[in-house]
Amino acid sequence: MNTPREHFSSRLGFILAAAGSAVGIGNMVGFPVAATKNGGGAFLIIYAIFVVFVCLPIMLAEMGLGRKTQSDPHGAYISLAGSKSPWRFAGWLAVITPFMIGVFYMVITVWILGYLIQTVLGNLDTIANPEYFGLFINSWSVFLYLAMVAAIVYFVLVSGVRDGIEKAARIMMPALFIMLLVLVGFVLTLDNAFAGVQFYLVPDFSKINGSVISGALSQAFFSLSLGMGILITYGSYLRQRDNVVGAGKMVLLTDTAVAFTAGLMVLPAIFAINPDTNPAELSESSVAMIFTFLPQIFLALSANIGYLGASIVAVIFFLLVFVAAITSLVSIIEVPTATIVRKYSFTRSKALLVLAGTMGILTLIATASFGMVNFFTDFVSYGGGSRSVFDLIYDVFYDTVLPLNGLLICLFVVWHWRTKNLHDELNTGAVGYKDGLFQKYISFSLTTFIPIILAVVFVNTVLDIFF
Ligand code: PHE
Repeated sequence: MNTPREHFSSRLGFILAAAGSAVGIGNMVGFPVAATKNGGGAFLIIYAIFVVFVCLPIMLAEMGLGRKTQSDPHGAYISLAGSKSPWRFAGWLAVITPFMIGVFYMVITVWILGYLIQTVLGNLDTIANPEYFGLFINSWSVFLYLAMVAAIVYFVLVSGVRDGIEKAARIMMPALFIMLLVLVGFVLTLDNAFAGVQFYLVPDFSKINGSVISGALSQAFFSLSLGMGILITYGSYLRQRDNVVGAGKMVLLTDTAVAFTAGLMVLPAIFAINPDTNPAELSESSVAMIFTFLPQIFLALSANIGYLGASIVAVIFFLLVFVAAITSLVSIIEVPTATIVRKYSFTRSKALLVLAGTMGILTLIATASFGMVNFFTDFVSYGGGSRSVFDLIYDVFYDTVLPLNGLLICLFVVWHWRTKNLHDELNTGAVGYKDGLFQKYISFSLTTFIPIILAVVFVNTVLDIFF
């Protein structure tokens, strides 16, 4: 039963897979819109500070924990703290979180596939109708797309770490970079594209306030896939000779560069079509942006490049977002898969089928909570209104539990595992880490302000959402 643990074939394999996890829907639309609405360059500066000074230490803590224990989050906590220790609950939480976030991420990925197929079929004009989204998400065709997405994720994951996750990332990530650059290159040639670039980059510090700052941190946290046990799990597929610190920095750089570049694609397109766009009125959510706002922008491009040209741009865009979403979904579902395989000695295929069954049911419920079934649509009531199953999963796991998991990892590393052991682990395979300034910074930040910031964000979100 004890087959040796699989590892990524190289550090590059890890970087592509982890960047595949990090680069997702959040980068493609969430980031550019958040930046434009919240002070452009001023937001970018705050975001960059959080990424480097807060997220990088947590990221390295997760990766170090993973490589040290060679296990999934639950296994990582119990292998260092013992199976009876209360830390095991933190381990379970770090497995349940991706399971639940997988449900909501799956729902959105399914919709993206639906829109991709519609544009491929030449129906850009249909999806550009603002009424279409509401009809689409309540139509039976979503179940067909759900089956397709589940099948793709299954085939990637069932092949294992090297032949599945790594191989998919090696093909999909370069394709993603190329599609992104092609779209940016095209969009920047449009008239008035510059107005978009300007709104995106010129700093407006008057927009910065407490909620923008905490929003920037949440965005960075989610974008780097932190607090989900993903980097613990992927870190466990690193070998002793791999440079964890260098790999972490590369993942961070890739994720941030893609988010930044996506802004040069989305905003110039919007401003080229309507130079008078008021940034404050850009869509509230990424979901509205992808499924109602952008299709109208693509259709309007027909005036410049014809319907076929506009459809091609739309196809590339949806394919880009779909690829980004699939590599993220794969990483999310790998966490519970690895846990089940270890804890119950299941084969990967059996573990995936169990997950497909349980997650499938939850995804169906979440999908049906958009109006198909009233019981799920008005499922609970808190924060002054009734909320659907989808809202509940989103509010609890995405908004609230992510920073909590980050906090628990921080506390575990500092109080239980000890920063000295983290450093020994990170130093294995690294060059120039030992006793350097960066190492000192990691110790300092993890023991002082990072847990405080995460605790404040956690408490604030709970008060904000539920009371
Ligand atoms: N980082 C991904 C994004 O930006 C989402 C994600 C979150 C993926 C957590 C995996 C884990 O969209």
